Amino acid sequence: MKTTAFIGTGRMAAALISCICKSSVSRNIIASDKNNINLARIKKQFKIKTTTDNKEAARNSDIVFICVKPQDIDAVLDEIKDVVKNQLIVSIAAGIRLKHLENKLKNKRIIRVMPNINCIAGEMAAGFSAGKYATKEDIKNVSGILNSAGIAFFMKEDLLDAVTGISGSGPAFFAYFIDAFVKAGVKNGLPRETAFKLACQTALGTGRLLMEKNLSPDKLIAMVASKKGTTVAGLDVLKKHKAKNILIKTIDAAVKRSKELGR
Ligand SMILES: NC(=O)c1ccc[n+]([C@@H]2O[C@H](COP(=O)([O-])OP(=O)(O)OC[C@H]3O[C@@H](n4cnc5c(N)ncnc54)[C@H](OP(=O)(O)O)[C@@H]3O)[C@@H](O)[C@H]2O)c1
Repeated sequence: MKTTAFIGTGRMAAALISCICKSSVSRNIIASDKNNINLARIKKQFKIKTTTDNKEAARNSDIVFICVKPQDIDAVLDEIKDVVKNQLIVSIAAGIRLKHLENKLKNKRIIRVMPNINCIAGEMAAGFSAGKYATKEDIKNVSGILNSAGIAFFMKEDLLDAVTGISGSGPAFFAYFIDAFVKAGVKNGLPRETAFKLACQTALGTGRLLMEKNLSPDKLIAMVASKKGTTVAGLDVLKKHKAKNILIKTIDAAVKRSKELGR
């Protein structure tokens, strides 16, 4: 059976491993980390092989996911570069470009992924791009793994900054809105727990309805908003304060920052 290595066993790696373990993608997994607490947690949770030696993990695998923070990635690349021969390298580090990875690993097969934290719930929205030396088979394999954790779109690398703005940072923006819904619910007399569940279920259901029925957001708004009704009263406030412009500026700021951080 093929083996997938995970270097770095923090939140994103744990989420991806969890999705692979639950999916029909059958693979051995080995994980390495210098953080013994994370490593022990992942070993206990998923009953997978672990090591503190990144080289050992990389050497014995056919796909190597690098899941350390962007500031730690160069140290990992320097460490494993001599044992990377035919392995496919998959980096999930925000802002670290394919060119940089290819330079460091001397033109090996590389795929770059922009995942999101919703992977923990098996609801990831991701984008990914392939380097010059990655094959169609590599893209298919990584697509299979990522789609077992949610949905993933293959695209040109330049577009990954937009993915970072919408779905990489997006869970934090949606959580911000949900927090406002909860506060408003509590202000209007609901218990916090009830307001929280109503807000979360409404967000979940809205996304699911739009996707399952392939509805445009405008169509859904028209389905809910009856003349002089409650929804129109609320939408008037959003329009008066140009909320849509604020939201577009929010995503623009995240995309701009992603471009600035890129190297
Ligand atoms: N979290 C998100 O929402 C999100 C979204 C999109 C992309 N990403 C990307 O995903 C990557 C991982 O993020 P995360 O949130 O999972 O980070 P994390 O929870 O901090 O996990 C990173 C792990 O890598 C370990 N590590 C650091 N240097 C190492 C080395 N030289 N060798 C082996 N392990 C090492 C860390 O140990 P220490 O704790 O001891 O440093 C930690 O256990 C990042 O590059 C990030 O840009 C994250």
